[in-house]
Amino acid sequence: MNVTHLECALCGLRHEAQRLLNLCHECGKPLLVKYDLEAAKRTLTKASLKGRPADLWRYREVLPVVNDANIVSLGEGWTPLLSATNLGRHLGIRELYVKDESQNPTQSFKARGMAAAVSMAKELGVGKLAVPSAGNAAGALAAYAARAGLECFIFMPQDTPRANVVECEQTGAHVTLMDGLITDCGAEVGRRKEAEGWFDVSTLKEPYRVEGKKTLGYELAEQLDWELPDVIIYPTGGGTGLIGMWKAFDEMERMGWISSKRPRMVTVQATGCAPIVRAFEAGKRFADEFPNAATTASGLRVPRAIGDFLIIDALRESGGTAVAVTDDELLAATREIGSAEGVFCAPEGAACLPALRKLMDRGLVHESDRVVLFNTGAGVKYLESFGG
Ligand SMILES: Cc1ncc(COP(=O)(O)O)c(C=O)c1O
Ligand SMILES: [Zn+2]
Repeated sequence: MNVTHLECALCGLRHEAQRLLNLCHECGKPLLVKYDLEAAKRTLTKASLKGRPADLWRYREVLPVVNDANIVSLGEGWTPLLSATNLGRHLGIRELYVKDESQNPTQSFKARGMAAAVSMAKELGVGKLAVPSAGNAAGALAAYAARAGLECFIFMPQDTPRANVVECEQTGAHVTLMDGLITDCGAEVGRRKEAEGWFDVSTLKEPYRVEGKKTLGYELAEQLDWELPDVIIYPTGGGTGLIGMWKAFDEMERMGWISSKRPRMVTVQATGCAPIVRAFEAGKRFADEFPNAATTASGLRVPRAIGDFLIIDALRESGGTAVAVTDDELLAATREIGSAEGVFCAPEGAACLPALRKLMDRGLVHESDRVVLFNTGAGVKYLESFGG
């Protein structure tokens, strides 16, 4: 067990580990897990990874669960980093990859975060979990909660993709569909959680989902033989994956695994809901709520993110940027990636392609850059988006 404490990402206040915590006691911002990395690196070495299981628990020393018996797993992580040579040729990018997160349990990268969060909830003695979700986080929570024998309560917008609703029902969750956005669902969880005895596992309102998601950063480095890419393009809602990768890079540098060189981190959002893009362009650190949020890429329909400053800090520190693409562009990109590479992307993941084109047009990405697009989920869950 290498966790030393939890630390507020904004004010730095120290919180004790192995306690059931949501946000900072002082300022109400997200808490991040801190490790004794000197201790971790004694057994977690590049060489030791060679013989480890092909899931995210291969990075055990930098994950928060104390007792192995509490790990709740469906085989999440260690997804392929696919070389996208056909697409790269069309675009004129020499080294283009797709990190295919649709190959996770429950078909999205949300499995990583929920594996860690549910394992910790089990370890800390939680009985009931609740989450507001755009769809994929709900499907992942329902599955992991079922496997852990915990009860879970899910709140999603009425127009969440049907597949997400059905998967939650079929894995035994209590599902409530609300007339509103994910922020309205979050407010409902907030209102009821105390009386109902629910532990709130909203994105970045509990400290462990980001720990599961950070394994994206470890994997990327390991799969590229410890040479990080030049550019990472990531479809951003709450931003946990991007924040997690940024944290992973810092941990790896401290363990002496990588240099201080970082990929340019790029946030992609839909023009119908682009609070981070707007804040980034305005030079702000905190994003205003995006009014009348609307996009078919349901995971990007997040009008307000509690980790906004963490996303924006990473974009700026890395020399990256934030780009918005239209629904027409991201839907067309789904077919383009599918036809070129055989990967049926979630619309959120497909959004990375028009974003890349815009970056090339603006001279921010070049032919010689090594670029990774994140396909965060499976297109097959979004049949409504494709007229199905
Ligand atoms: C497929 C997909 N991609 C991207 C996102 C956005 O992820 P994050 O909230 O980590 O930014 C979501 C969130 O629901 C999603 O389901
Ligand atoms: Zn604080």
